[in-house]
Amino acid sequence: MKVELLDSTIREGEQSPNVSFNVNQKIEIVKSVDSFGVDFIELGHPAVSPDVWEAIDQISNIKTRAKKLIHGRATKSDINDASTFNVEWIGIFFGTSDLSLKHKFGNLSNEKALNHIKESIYYAKSKNFKLRFTAEDATRTDQSFLIEVAKCAQASGADRFSIADTVGVLTPESTKKLINTIKKEIDIPIHIHCHNDFGLATANALSALLAGAQTVDVTVNGLGERSGIPPLAEICLALKEIYKVNNDWDLKNLYKLSNKIEKMSGIFNSENRPIVGKNAFTHKAGLHSRAVLKNPKTYESFPPEIIGRDRYITIDKYSGQDALKSRLKELKIIVNEEDLKKILIEIKSQPEKRKINDLELLEIADEILKSNIKIYIPTEVEAIVNMELDNAIYTTRITRWLMSLSQLKDVYEVAGDYDIVAHIKAKSIKELNSLIEEFRVKEGIKRTHTRPILKGYSN
Ligand code: COA
Ligand code: ZN
Repeated sequence: MKVELLDSTIREGEQSPNVSFNVNQKIEIVKSVDSFGVDFIELGHPAVSPDVWEAIDQISNIKTRAKKLIHGRATKSDINDASTFNVEWIGIFFGTSDLSLKHKFGNLSNEKALNHIKESIYYAKSKNFKLRFTAEDATRTDQSFLIEVAKCAQASGADRFSIADTVGVLTPESTKKLINTIKKEIDIPIHIHCHNDFGLATANALSALLAGAQTVDVTVNGLGERSGIPPLAEICLALKEIYKVNNDWDLKNLYKLSNKIEKMSGIFNSENRPIVGKNAFTHKAGLHSRAVLKNPKTYESFPPEIIGRDRYITIDKYSGQDALKSRLKELKIIVNEEDLKKILIEIKSQPEKRKINDLELLEIADEILKSNIKIYIPTEVEAIVNMELDNAIYTTRITRWLMSLSQLKDVYEVAGDYDIVAHIKAKSIKELNSLIEEFRVKEGIKRTHTRPILKGYSN
């Protein structure tokens, strides 16, 4: 199965509500998806705005392994815009459904639409572009007309034909039939662009690939208009793990890439999102966890390491002894069977806790094991302040100055990213803030990083 990925994170992805990438972010995204190993990158539609134009301009000068493609309407002006950049591919689209012809193009007849498509493709080809023609809303287009459109696109010189399921109404079955039908009519490679309005985008896209479509449009984290398009991660992992398609995708960096796009887009993945969601490799039920500890394959379809993640076992009222014992062991606590049971009973008697974090678990364990660890909650405001100094000459001078402060509890000169760590005890947040302000302006202190203390322990 020959599969090509087209990444549209900076075009379709930027069409997500509340998303706007700046030029530098787009450059970074292009470099990342290129090194991940996608085959095409859609750069955007120049007419949209000056910054989209600028991004396309700058990216057009970056060398990529992937083919670059400029998006635009089937108009002379959009084609002219595209031809001002040094980019090999253009993707032009035209709505072919009755709804589009009637409401977007003022009751355009099928015949006139075909003519418009033909003329636009001729025009773009006269500018020496390689061309993908997209039938927008193809899946609500009368099928015999869609076939005419596909044939017209090929005959006019299109190098690729793209089927856009613009409002996501395909099913895996109808996708297969549609691709089979179109494939019989044209020889140029077929692209598939699915929308996720019914949550079927990934399934439909895979069905299209199985039926012989060659290229699938994806975005990182499935960004896109409304509910988006197939996420890169889902498509790649399903292809690799279920359909055994071997490609040299850099899966190890997939999770990092997803995180990066979350931050840049401001759209964060839900916890239960497949593959990149927080919970994708977290096991909860005691019976699952017990089996996973013996062999992760029992409850994992593929190991998290292949996409640069770790598995995790969460502790709460659904936990069993095995999972608990293993977590306690990780926390360097070895318990006998009787105490283990007692700890588990305590955990199960706190159903209001949705999750028992390590700190809470340690507290429960300390209580039951009667450990001699003293826990204290600061009554005043305490903080650890890390300081990086301008250079080593200042270290002792700053340390001695810190020691003269009444709020200082301890100070350490340390190796690593920071030079000094100070433990501060202030009477109020206000006092802490003004002290930190003082650190910031102190000659020799380059950077500070403050963490308020919530709880302390001592032997
Ligand atoms: N091919 C050719 N013409 C198309 C078209 C297509 N696929 N889709 C729409 N048009 C035409 C309409 O017929 C209309 O033409 P008219 O002005 O001659 O009546 C015009 O485009 C409508 O565009 P509108 O958005 O109202 O006008 P605009 O000139 O202010 O803005 C854009 C045009 C493209 C710059 C603006 O809509 C935009 O920034 N869009 C974002 C990109 C986008 O919509 N992408 C969709 C991708 S699927
Ligand atoms: Zn789309």
